[in-house]
Amino acid sequence: MNHTSPPKKRDLLSLMDLQTEEFYQLFSRAAALKAALKAGEATHTLKGRTLAMVFEKPSTRTRVSFETGMYQLGGQALFLSSKDIQLGRGEPLSDSARVLSRFVDGIMVRTFAHANLVTMAEYATVPVINGLSDDFHPCQILADLLTYQEHRGSIAGRKVAWVGDGNNVAHSWILAAARLGFHLFVATPADYSPKPSVVEWAQSSCASQPAGEAAGSVVLLRQPKDAVAEADLVVTDSWTSMGQEKEQKRRLRAFANYCVDSKLMQLARPDALFMHCLPAHRGEEVTAEVLDGPQSVVWDEAENRLHIQKAILEWLMG
Ligand code: CP
Ligand code: NVA
Repeated sequence: MNHTSPPKKRDLLSLMDLQTEEFYQLFSRAAALKAALKAGEATHTLKGRTLAMVFEKPSTRTRVSFETGMYQLGGQALFLSSKDIQLGRGEPLSDSARVLSRFVDGIMVRTFAHANLVTMAEYATVPVINGLSDDFHPCQILADLLTYQEHRGSIAGRKVAWVGDGNNVAHSWILAAARLGFHLFVATPADYSPKPSVVEWAQSSCASQPAGEAAGSVVLLRQPKDAVAEADLVVTDSWTSMGQEKEQKRRLRAFANYCVDSKLMQLARPDALFMHCLPAHRGEEVTAEVLDGPQSVVWDEAENRLHIQKAILEWLMG
């Protein structure tokens, strides 16, 4: 009789799910997959596998990179808009997760409440990947970290400035600071600070980093200039995230002094990079001069969504 239980499936709901060495394993696999793709070599490690992609919000980059990534790995992806499946007519998430698990090998979900993802992961018997929730956007930050490493080497010990909304993307940067040992300075208006629970998790993880591993830090500030001073990397995102459209007018007023412009960038180190997950709003959170300027690596970040996602898909579904 065989008493060994099958290995527990893994999910990627937030960067808390990854240990430090797993970040570096994903970067290294993504780099190899990128090189193979550029050399015209096929990598069919997910032949015959299917990824279901459930979208409750719009997407360009996440949808196209996951779909193309599955195709390039020899598998296929199904685009499931919640408007067109029974989920949108009230079929419970728990039932949808169990049914999809009988057909496919992995489920990517873009949703509103992060609790929806937790429920999906609990009921699915296949890996669940967060393609963005109101709280986190882990795949984006993995692509951003890979992009930083490609341009400047290790991010450990570097100074990163976040300017703008303490949103889902900011939360993922906060978690990453704890795991990869960089110093994150977050400047937001008082009413738009990141969630205390996320900051507390990161700060306590930074404090308990094992000896020998770079210890990061997370500092909350109000003034963009204080965050950006001497930064190696400046990051921002839209002021109004998907689902917050009704708050747009109030947000435009609250964030008026949080635009990343050339004057602000001049406070950073001369070789500082600028990142934005996109879509961007030129003239709001960033000027066209910065977004389209020489310090911006936003198109590399977008491209790297494809390469890192292939590494994530192989790791979870291979
Ligand atoms: N950055 C990002 O996730 O873009 P999409 O909303 O287009 O997927
Ligand atoms: N914070 C943004 C990110 C979009 C990729 C949003 O949630 O809409």
